[in-house]
Amino acid sequence: MKGVILAGGFATRLRPLTLVTNKHLLPIYNKPMIYYPLEAMKKAGIREVLLTTSGDHAGHFANLLKAGEDFNLKIYYAIQRNPKGGIADAITLSEEFAQGEPILVILGDNIFDFNLKESLRKLEEHIKKHGKGAMDFGVHMDALASQYGVIEIDEHGRVLSVEEKPERPKSDIAQTGIYSYDGRVFDFIRKLKPSARGELEVTDLNNLYLQEGSLLCEIIDWWIDAGTSYDELLRANNEVAVRVRRK
Ligand code: DAU
Repeated sequence: MKGVILAGGFATRLRPLTLVTNKHLLPIYNKPMIYYPLEAMKKAGIREVLLTTSGDHAGHFANLLKAGEDFNLKIYYAIQRNPKGGIADAITLSEEFAQGEPILVILGDNIFDFNLKESLRKLEEHIKKHGKGAMDFGVHMDALASQYGVIEIDEHGRVLSVEEKPERPKSDIAQTGIYSYDGRVFDFIRKLKPSARGELEVTDLNNLYLQEGSLLCEIIDWWIDAGTSYDELLRANNEVAVRVRRK
């Protein structure tokens, strides 16, 4: 399995912090934000990662991460021409890199401490058996699930629906920014149309897998989307600090 980390977008919600730098280079306690998804990739057993970002910031990432030596990963770079084309648009940049293998996608502002290895093994087995499959990762929220994608599952953990930022969420499970797809993902993305906000939406992509009955879902425990607001950025810093001190 190959890894894809998305670090594009304009991060307007975090201005002025992001006026001259990329959101994913802001600090989360003692490391730049982008280190967290990279370390999660490494922990999951991934060896090669493609990082997608805008042309303005690609050089900053290359200066920091180089070819990935410090992480014991091979890191490659791709430029997303429209940095707000959408998550699914950014994923298409990895088609050649993936070489038909399944991919693990992590959004560059997602902070979590869950080892994805076992879940990915489960998905790979599913793909081997059924010839298809994708995995979505959710997290139970105390409140405000509606500011994220929302996943509804039944008592057996089967996905019933996935909706992007619904007004009336059908569950308290937020869709995280962690996704894994079989090699057909690029054909699925070619079927997508831009949403009302002009993006190729990851939720629409996940719904294509759901419609053919091949979308699996795993629930993780602690997760923060550090890029949504100043408060979530601060919370990520505080909670990571507590975890680092505890170790
Ligand atoms: O973080 C989880 C949420 O991420 C999910 O619950 C939603 O279902 C999913 O749509 C997404 O929601 P957001 O609206 O919060 O996504 P945002 O535009 O903030 O972008 C998330 C990350 O993806 C961010 O690190 C930047 C990167 N990105 C985003 C876009 C739109 C790109 O690299 N390229 C893009 O075109």
